[in-house]
Amino acid sequence: MHSILIVDDEQSMREFLSILLEKEGYAVRTASNAREALQLIGQQIFSVIISDIKMPGMDGLQLLEEVRKISPDTLVLMITAFGSTDTAIEAMKKGALDYVIKPFKVDKIKIIIRNALKKIELEQENALLRRELFARDGLDRIIGKSPVMKSVFEIIQKTADSKSNVLITGESGTGKDLVAQAIHRLSRRKDHPFVAVNCGALPENLLESELFGYQRGAFTGAMENKKGLFEVADGGSIFLDEIGELNPAMQVKLLRVLQNQEFRRIGGTDDIQVDVRVIAASNQDFDRIVEEKRFREDLYYRLNVIPIEIPPLRKRKEDIPLLVNHFLKKVAPERSLTVTEDCMERLCRYEWKGNVRELENTIERAIVLSEGDRITTEHLPHHILEGQLFALPPKMDIPDDGIDFDRIISDMERDLLTQALAKAGGIKKEAARILNMSFRSFRYKLSKYEIGQREDNNKEKVSF
Ligand SMILES: Nc1ncnc2c1ncn2[C@@H]1O[C@H](COP(=O)(O)OP(=O)(O)OP(=O)(O)O)[C@@H](O)[C@H]1O
Ligand SMILES: [Mg+2]
Repeated sequence: MHSILIVDDEQSMREFLSILLEKEGYAVRTASNAREALQLIGQQIFSVIISDIKMPGMDGLQLLEEVRKISPDTLVLMITAFGSTDTAIEAMKKGALDYVIKPFKVDKIKIIIRNALKKIELEQENALLRRELFARDGLDRIIGKSPVMKSVFEIIQKTADSKSNVLITGESGTGKDLVAQAIHRLSRRKDHPFVAVNCGALPENLLESELFGYQRGAFTGAMENKKGLFEVADGGSIFLDEIGELNPAMQVKLLRVLQNQEFRRIGGTDDIQVDVRVIAASNQDFDRIVEEKRFREDLYYRLNVIPIEIPPLRKRKEDIPLLVNHFLKKVAPERSLTVTEDCMERLCRYEWKGNVRELENTIERAIVLSEGDRITTEHLPHHILEGQLFALPPKMDIPDDGIDFDRIISDMERDLLTQALAKAGGIKKEAARILNMSFRSFRYKLSKYEIGQREDNNKEKVSF
């Protein structure tokens, strides 16, 4: 329900308008002077204020000015005496919604208020719709329903509009690019550029001139003034991908830009100020590269104001079926393909070291290989089908009197080593591969358990 405040020193006018507007369904309050009105405005938010211009003490124009400051969204309708249109026009310039001249027709006030409120409601509705639309635009390309991904979505939505720098970390192929783009598209900066720079791909001097630009004559070959990407991105976002690869000299230069919010073109003398939000990404472990002094700690803290960590796909397996179906539709929208249950199970069990990118490639390949409307295990590469070895053995219940942990584990190890060797026909390298173990550790474990010590001449082969 909209609330309306009537301010007039004439009691009859206050009463008349109150009755009229209450009948229209508004909640009405009244004040006999501007000071009283300001007190009420301090207590509640009015949709509309109707005020007489000529009042003793503070007049309607001064009240209008105060309202614009305290409650800028409130609409103010002025009532003015016949013959003082100049003041009314001044009120319009100061931001009044409209004015009516006394004596006025009842309907006129009703219609002005009704239309103004309707317009506001529509605007609010549109703003809401627009925001939802953009929200979908930004996040709908990132598929996921796992709790970890939901919290990633939440951070994106909550922080997209802030100016704070973002650092996105995650293994290769987890979707860092997608997240960076979503942040930009959900922000107020969306109509300004999103400029992506791969910090790992360019040699130092080239990266510097790309980022900061140069003045003509700054170095051989600088034939003209060139804007840097920080300038190109003004008002928008700059995406510094593979930031962990930045060399020490560039780290210092970037730190300076982040600290001062300004920079100079190479060879330039003017400080250039830009309004750019920095979104950085890396698949490196920052704890380690900071510890090893490969990445400056002060720069890390400047970038890591909003940390977004995208977990590897193997830690959010419930997203796999969703992603699989998404890629089926994306790659072959005309084929309405499905994946057999058995095949989906294998896909869910696999470790996906290359994360979503590897899954996407696998599905693309399977689509090419498949002829009917079903993707089966036949269409999966060999190494994925072996993924079942990652399954855990049946669960063991600990009896009341406890177990000998070390013995059980070593029995199990010995058993798996022997089984693998048998499966590999005694070829050690192959047995190690089946166990997803390095050949060195495999050999070490064999000697630890004294398996296959009676070696024949073929060093790679074990006989039993
Ligand atoms: N959650 C997801 N939903 C849909 N597609 C995804 C998702 N995550 C990643 N992808 C897709 O996987 C591929 C790799 O994603 P992206 O390039 O964003 O990864 P990245 O983390 O930037 O990898 P890198 O570290 O190698 O740069 C892209 O084709 C992307 O569209
Ligand atoms: Mg990337």
